[in-house]
Amino acid sequence: MANLATSFTLWLSLLSYSYINAMAQWPAGRSTRFYEFKVQTMRMTKLCNTNEIVAVNNMFPGPVIYAQEDDRVTVKVTNASPYNASIHW
Ligand SMILES: *[C@@H]1O[C@H](CO)[C@@H](O)[C@H](O)[C@H]1NC(C)=O
Repeated sequence: MANLATSFTLWLSLLSYSYINAMAQWPAGRSTRFYEFKVQTMRMTKLCNTNEIVAVNNMFPGPVIYAQEDDRVTVKVTNASPYNASIHW
C-alpha cells in the first residue's frame, strides 16, 4: 500500500511539474509575439503530380501563430513569390 501511495505521489508531482512547465512555456497575455513570414513558391508532389505552390516559410498550410487574448502580434511578411498575394487569418 505504501508503494502505491508513493508512486501516486510521484505521479502527481510529475504531473504538476509538467503542468507548471507547460504553463511556463505558454506566454501570458498582453505580450508581443513576433513572427516572420517568407512567402515563396515551392514544388510539392502529391499523388505523383508535382505542382508549384505558394507557401509560407516552406510550409503548406502555413505556420501557426500562437497568441492569447490581449497579445499583440507583429508579423513581418516578405513576399518572395512572383505573385501579388494577400494573407487571410
Ligand atoms: C501587382 O500589383 C501591382 C499594383 O497593383 C501591379 O502593378 C503589378 O502588375 C502586379 N503584379 C503582378 C505579378 O500581378
